[in-house]
Amino acid sequence: MDKLIIEGGKPLKGEVRISGSKNATLPVLAATLLTDETCILRNVPRLLDTNTMIKLLKSLGKDIEWDKDKLIIMSNGKPNPVADYKLVSTMRGSICVLGPLLTKLGEAKVSLPGGCVIGVRPVDLHQKGIEALGAKVRTEGGYIIATAKKLKGARVYLAGASGPSVLGTANIMMAATLAEGETVIECAACEPEVEELANFLNEMGARIRGQGSPRIIIQGVKKLRGADYRMSFDRIEGGTFVLLAAMARSNFLIRDIDYSQLTALDDVLTNIGVQVQVEKNTVRVKSPKVLKPFSITTYPYPGFPTDLQAQYTAIMALTNGVSVIRDTVFPDRFMHIAELSRMGARIRREGGSAIIEGVKELSGAPVTASDLRASAALVMAGLVAKGKTEIRRVYHLDRGYENIDKKLIALGASIKREKE
Ligand code: EPZ
Repeated sequence: MDKLIIEGGKPLKGEVRISGSKNATLPVLAATLLTDETCILRNVPRLLDTNTMIKLLKSLGKDIEWDKDKLIIMSNGKPNPVADYKLVSTMRGSICVLGPLLTKLGEAKVSLPGGCVIGVRPVDLHQKGIEALGAKVRTEGGYIIATAKKLKGARVYLAGASGPSVLGTANIMMAATLAEGETVIECAACEPEVEELANFLNEMGARIRGQGSPRIIIQGVKKLRGADYRMSFDRIEGGTFVLLAAMARSNFLIRDIDYSQLTALDDVLTNIGVQVQVEKNTVRVKSPKVLKPFSITTYPYPGFPTDLQAQYTAIMALTNGVSVIRDTVFPDRFMHIAELSRMGARIRREGGSAIIEGVKELSGAPVTASDLRASAALVMAGLVAKGKTEIRRVYHLDRGYENIDKKLIALGASIKREKE
């Protein structure tokens, strides 16, 4: 396993390019199961998670190869409906092969995703959705097993106690593309990644409208064709670099970012005294000497994203007051608190909230990454802390941030990657 050694306090300057979206790429890769024709995907980020999904698709009947920065996905003529525990257990996002396998092959056997440190990851809404479309579903031996001769369009309300489900919406939307008749998903997830998946499916000949709104309508079609599609920017990587610029008081240029997808973040930044200058698809951040505290609650899109909560907790550690952060999507997503506290942050948990008392300075320390976004928070803290920070288990970071140490070194950070 790798670790990162960061020497804090180096000024960051220059520019960084945001990579393609991980959370759009995973369901779009799964959607290629809906056709036997060749698909070409561009601007796909090279990440542990995309590699895992590529391995999974190869086990499900796809031949996949990189051709420079293009990913070519073809059928190997041997479709397989079983998504194996070994692969699915390492990445929750694999659950989104369920819908495509079921609607294309009439059957699917997908290992139930393990939980993860950010909280219990149920799939009851995925199951409810495919049952609404007529599938017979049972769980056996840690697998969800679904069969259906032909799915039938239906109206399904797809939200649980914590609101809509992103991958639940993705699964039902994909299953409905080849179902008979019309499907209406009520209380669908509105995330841009769901919208991007719908756009890709329409490129394949699907008939979807309402994507990006809480009501998505899908007219089933007989067949889907291959498509050539360019993934858009990673909204969460973009938000992470904007928060890093604010925290490090740097105005480095951030390229390939559609800032209109980060309005909740922009609103919060205004409240802490940070301005963001937008120029087409680039942004520059201007921060004050001292950041003001500002309390937030995370919500499904377009609310403040839970995937930026850990990074925001890090920046709130360095303000001149007290802030409260509540995560309504994943109330236990606070593994980063213990590690940030080792660096001198003053944070305590109360139920699904974190109470943060700002301090003047953080100091470097050995810390351990626990999940993808918590590790991003630790890197941000290490970059501004006094002294050296050593972050262990950075494979968590490599799951979702493409070449993050190279990008930061190009900005002037002092970062070394070593074997643990
Ligand atoms: C997606 O996960 C993202 N992952 C997550 O990003 C993100 O945190 C999450 O959406 C919320 O925005 C990918 O897109 C690959 P959900 P997903 O189903 O779809 C509950 C990252 O850091 N729920 O929208 O699995 C669930 O417990 C990752 O990139 C049910 O109750 O999340 C949670 O409280 C982490 N039943 C809420 O809904 C279900 O059947 C939202 O979960 C499904 C979910």
